[in-house]
Amino acid sequence: MLTHPLSILLDRDSEEPIYRQLIRHVRAQIESGTLPAGTRLPASRDLARQLNISRISVVNAYAELRAEGYLSAHAGRGTFVSGGRESIESPTSMMPSPARPNGQHAEMIGANNYPDRSLRELMRMARRPGVINFSTGAPPTEFFPVSHLREAINAVIDRDGSEALAYEVPEGYAPLRASVRDYVSALGIRCSSEHVLITGGTQQGIDLVVQSLLSEGDLVITETPTYLGMLDIARTRRVRAFGVGMDDDGIRLDMLENVILEHHPRLIYVMPSFQNPTGRVMPLHRRRQLLNLAHEYHVPILEDAVYQEFRFEGETYPPLKALDEHGIVIHVSGFTKNLIPGLRIGYVISDGIHHERLVRVKQAADISTPGLNQRALHWMLEHGVLALQMERNMRELKRRRDVALAAARRSLPPGSKWEKPHGGMYLWVELPKTGPTVAELYIQAVQTGVAYALGNLFYTNGSGSHHMRINFGAHKPVDIEEGFRRLGRAWRELACDYPEIEKAPLL
Ligand SMILES: Cc1ncc(COP(=O)(O)O)c(C=O)c1O
Repeated sequence: MLTHPLSILLDRDSEEPIYRQLIRHVRAQIESGTLPAGTRLPASRDLARQLNISRISVVNAYAELRAEGYLSAHAGRGTFVSGGRESIESPTSMMPSPARPNGQHAEMIGANNYPDRSLRELMRMARRPGVINFSTGAPPTEFFPVSHLREAINAVIDRDGSEALAYEVPEGYAPLRASVRDYVSALGIRCSSEHVLITGGTQQGIDLVVQSLLSEGDLVITETPTYLGMLDIARTRRVRAFGVGMDDDGIRLDMLENVILEHHPRLIYVMPSFQNPTGRVMPLHRRRQLLNLAHEYHVPILEDAVYQEFRFEGETYPPLKALDEHGIVIHVSGFTKNLIPGLRIGYVISDGIHHERLVRVKQAADISTPGLNQRALHWMLEHGVLALQMERNMRELKRRRDVALAAARRSLPPGSKWEKPHGGMYLWVELPKTGPTVAELYIQAVQTGVAYALGNLFYTNGSGSHHMRINFGAHKPVDIEEGFRRLGRAWRELACDYPEIEKAPLL
């Protein structure tokens, strides 16, 4: 069968990426009948040569057109125009089988792959009275700036009256957008307040990005382990999450490139600073390499920077967005961990077309983030409350981190492992593999009066059976010590049933 030569004119000066232009042209030619069903298209290498573009642009364009149902690939025979739009595959049948480049570290969750509901039930038990609950994502509650908030709300109502209670525009309260611009520009991000969208917390920022960039069945790459709230979003939005393994410097780029080539993700989600749950920080060289890779393959990055400023020692690195020369990074963060979670205020910084789409999705989601909260937060930022709060929080978090490390050394069973986080609020602990899993330990732990976040929840594939995330930030030192003591006791009581583990006395 003859291959159909494609006649395509690409605009190299356009802002539209080459592979997107290619998709548009091929799609138009199929829809107009210029390329009838059954036509064989040139091999990606030949088309790349003919058009003088990179092969990956053609590979990406063909993959997208296949996912949309316009093309089909037949092993060894080539790429063909499909029989018609009816042949679009369902998201489930489209799902590639999980690839495991270089080993075990990459995994996929499907849209319907909810974690065992019993895990969630277990997490609920943590709220029992008297339980020291290490499982939350909360910052230190006793330092919330309650009186500053009271002052802010009074000042805003005195100043703005009923205007403060009206609908706000979806983009957010303009003076707050300007304060966010100033805040992120101090981190090295160059943007105008036109690029700032105020959201209902960081969580909504992530969700809006997923909604605006991905369709059902599309793929988002995450680090593994990753923030469990991202996995929840992937499940509820019915997109697939593919976890790529990490080393000490963050997401592994050798694996990432393989996964991009094989699975054509729509988004890469990373937490470069004080990653949740591991606490790791991506150094500058890895940040630059990640940006280059994402740029080369035209995959946008969603940077979750909610812990960016939670550093109490070690090097500081600019956010990815500050290093982004091509507008491929969307930056989300919020004033939740560092100020008041319950005000539910976050933001998204993005360029051009991304921003416009995000505003539309935000409006559809909830019209706007509550105006009174935005104005009160703006007042607090203008009055220096954030700087005060951060200084106190970082001093206290470092103290609590040190208490947690010492308590872990004293109370956790021999063979347990953890890294020393230089910031953030979490200790990511691995218990000895020879002993009970964290799920098996959980009931005993709650009965002993302590709870933690189960490791499995942070993985796309149910790994993490011996991992737990401990939030040391939310507890006073005395409770941290007691919590670890209870943890050690619970483990020891259960471990009697595991003959292969070392019977060392524990405090
Ligand atoms: C990495 C990460 N991103 C986002 C969020 C959600 O934060 P927010 O309260 O701002 O919605 C959390 C909360 O734990 C988090 O750990």
